Amino acid sequence: MEITYYGHSCFGILLEGKHLLFDPFVTPNDLAKDIDIMSIKADYILISHGHEDHVADAVAIAKNTGARVISNFEIINWLTVQGIKNVHPMNHGGNVNLEGINAKYVNAVHSSILPDGTYGGNPGGFVLTSNDKNFYYAGDTALTMDMKLIPMSAKLDLSFLPIGDTFTMGVNDAVLAADFTECKKVIGMHYDTFPPISIDREKAINTFKASGKELILMNIGETKEF
Ligand code: NI
Ligand code: MN
Repeated sequence: MEITYYGHSCFGILLEGKHLLFDPFVTPNDLAKDIDIMSIKADYILISHGHEDHVADAVAIAKNTGARVISNFEIINWLTVQGIKNVHPMNHGGNVNLEGINAKYVNAVHSSILPDGTYGGNPGGFVLTSNDKNFYYAGDTALTMDMKLIPMSAKLDLSFLPIGDTFTMGVNDAVLAADFTECKKVIGMHYDTFPPISIDREKAINTFKASGKELILMNIGETKEF
C-alpha cells in the first residue's frame, strides 16, 4: 500500500492497483499550494462528510479523472446535481466492493453540511479491507464507543485519525481510538491547516509513543510505502 499526503485530511492511497482518494481539499489549503490537483490520480473518491474542508476539490477531480465517487446518499445527490454521474451512494453500515477492495461506511460523531448550505446527511468514516492491507479512515469524528465495533470485523493494519482537536478529537482521544480499534499504527490528519487545529507535533508523537503506539505525521506531497 502506497500513501500520498495532499494535506489536511486528503490522502491518495494505491491499494491492489487502484487509486483511492479521500476527502479532496487541496486548492483552498495554503499549505498544499504546491500540489496540482490535475496531477492527482483517482479510480475512486471517498468522501466522509459534507464540510468544505473535505469536498472542496471533489467535483474538479471527479471530472478530471472520471473516478467513481463514494459517499453518503445526500452528498452523492449534491454531486449529481453538479454533473458527476459516476457515483455510488451508501449509508452507515453499508458495504461496497471496489474491484476487490471492500469499503464500509461507518459512524462518525460530527456534523455534515455542504458548502452551499445543502444538507450533507450524517457524517461517516470508512473501513477498507483487501487481500493486501486493511485500514480505517475516520473522517472528522470525536472518540466514540462505535470504534470498538471495527476490530470485530476487520483486523486493521493502519488508521487515519484526526488529531487537531477543536472540531474533532485531539491527540489524547486519538490514543484511545487506537485502543478501541486495536490498531497501534496511526497516520494523523486534520491538524495545522488552520490556527484552531494547530498542534505540537513532537508532543503528539511522544504521547502516542508513551502508550506503545506510533503516530506518523506525513509531509504534504510525500509518498510512503506501508
Ligand atoms: Ni468536518
Ligand atoms: Mn473538517
